[in-house]
Amino acid sequence: MSSFYSTLIVAIVSVTLFYAQRLLARYFTARRLGCKPPPQLTTSSPATTPQNEVESTPKSATGWFELSAELHERFGSTYQDRGFVNLSINTRDAENVQAIFGYESRGWGVAPFRLAAMAPFCGEGVLTADGHVWEQSRSLLKPAFHKSRISDLSTFETLFDQALAKIPQDASTFDLQPLLMSLVCMRRARKLHCLTLFWFVDTSATFLLGEPLGVLGNTTASGAPLDGLSFHKHFMLSLRAIGIRLKSRWLRFIGPQKESVIHWQLVHEYIDFFVNRSIKMTSDDHKVPPTSLVQALAQQTNDRKFMRTQTIQGMIAAADTTPLLISNTVFLLARHPEVFARLRSEVANITSKPMSLEDTKQSSFLRNILRESLRLYPVFPTLARVALVDTVLPRGGGPDGSSPIFAPAGTRALSNFFALHRDKSVFGANVEEFDPGRWEKISPGPYEYMAFGVGQRACLGRQKAIAEASVALIRIAQEFKSIASRDESAWCGEQRMVCMNVNGCKVAFVPT
Ligand code: HEM
Repeated sequence: MSSFYSTLIVAIVSVTLFYAQRLLARYFTARRLGCKPPPQLTTSSPATTPQNEVESTPKSATGWFELSAELHERFGSTYQDRGFVNLSINTRDAENVQAIFGYESRGWGVAPFRLAAMAPFCGEGVLTADGHVWEQSRSLLKPAFHKSRISDLSTFETLFDQALAKIPQDASTFDLQPLLMSLVCMRRARKLHCLTLFWFVDTSATFLLGEPLGVLGNTTASGAPLDGLSFHKHFMLSLRAIGIRLKSRWLRFIGPQKESVIHWQLVHEYIDFFVNRSIKMTSDDHKVPPTSLVQALAQQTNDRKFMRTQTIQGMIAAADTTPLLISNTVFLLARHPEVFARLRSEVANITSKPMSLEDTKQSSFLRNILRESLRLYPVFPTLARVALVDTVLPRGGGPDGSSPIFAPAGTRALSNFFALHRDKSVFGANVEEFDPGRWEKISPGPYEYMAFGVGQRACLGRQKAIAEASVALIRIAQEFKSIASRDESAWCGEQRMVCMNVNGCKVAFVPT
């Protein structure tokens, strides 16, 4: 036998022995710890998928999100889906959610499924890394979200007022929700006065880069390599490419690579302009207080690539979040005039201009409206993690769901907030209803309601998003005496990076 074949046989035997030994070690560990598998996702016929099966019932009008809630009703709080390659565990059990996403969840991470797909565009940073790089990234970003940095809501309010001024005053129908984020839709959005999109792009850029992109006026920051609208277009197309890469997993190399690379490069050049400018400003004057996220970064590091990475990742994390929260809330308020009327009376005494952070916290009813909106329509509806090492989930295994579950390294864990936030034992029997008043009676734990995530990776922009959404809703309540719904269709979620209503938010505002 040639030496090639003997080497091949030795290699095959070694690999087989390695996997057999690992399988046995895992089997005995799982047995020693009393682990049992959770219910397996099944269908009544091998010819159908659980999705098809549940969607064929009349209840499942909103598709995948409702499906996930139904699957939990059917298979329990924790169930598994054994795919071709890896095991996937879906859970809405608070103890398991804590084990996966809580402060002690270091055995779970995001890099295995986010990094390879996203790194060519936005490198290794707060959204894509685990361990030391994530820690470093998060601690560099944190100062930009300090209370002192988010307390000044004046720019936000000014830009929002400009948007409000363009809302039709004759109670004609108007779509408040940003449309799909491509250039075509940007053009369409302009025509339809989709103001939240432009307003948020500008306010978000002010926070991140230090000045608005100027998408409405199609202007250019002096010296920047692109005008604001073009940058926004390339950023959104980059995000779309990343979304496709994330969904395609191992097949991500298929697709229009060359085009994506052009968008990524243009975004990099644009961000690098602000990075270089901030480094120069900081070296000229160390003491100048930072007025943007990129400047806050420049005061801590001069690693240009790292700064670009964190800035783009900050942009991705913020993209479309607050406008969707506002838009979903207006959608709900238009259908619940009694809630809007109470909101108006509760915020009538907020007269200071611009509003302060304290003003935005005055009405606990407003806070409950936002909580309830995010409960029903979470802006980020799904969180996922991958087991970085062999680990154990505390509950959900065995016929009664009380045994631990063994999760070998590579297991994917998912928690769907659409399902988590519809747990009747936590939120009451009327989980499908918009009832901000429920929050006066319930106080869900941090692993039962987690619209902003939880644990060490919880949202850095939470206070900022809530404060800004509050300003927007207070201003709407002050300017309009009622909001009429102009669409019979139910809210129907479609997940992109964030989850938006495919039917938009068609309403009419009636001025005071
Ligand atoms: C309604 C608005 C928002 C919601 C519902 C929301 C929700 C979330 C959630 C669920 C996570 C956790 C992701 C994970 O665990 O993998 C997260 C992370 C994050 N969010 Fe937000 N977010 C919002 C607005 C914002 C805004 C406006 C910004 C920035 C300006 C922001 C910055 C971040 C950052 C930097 C992270 C990453 C934290 C980390 O991994 O350490 N978010 N957000």
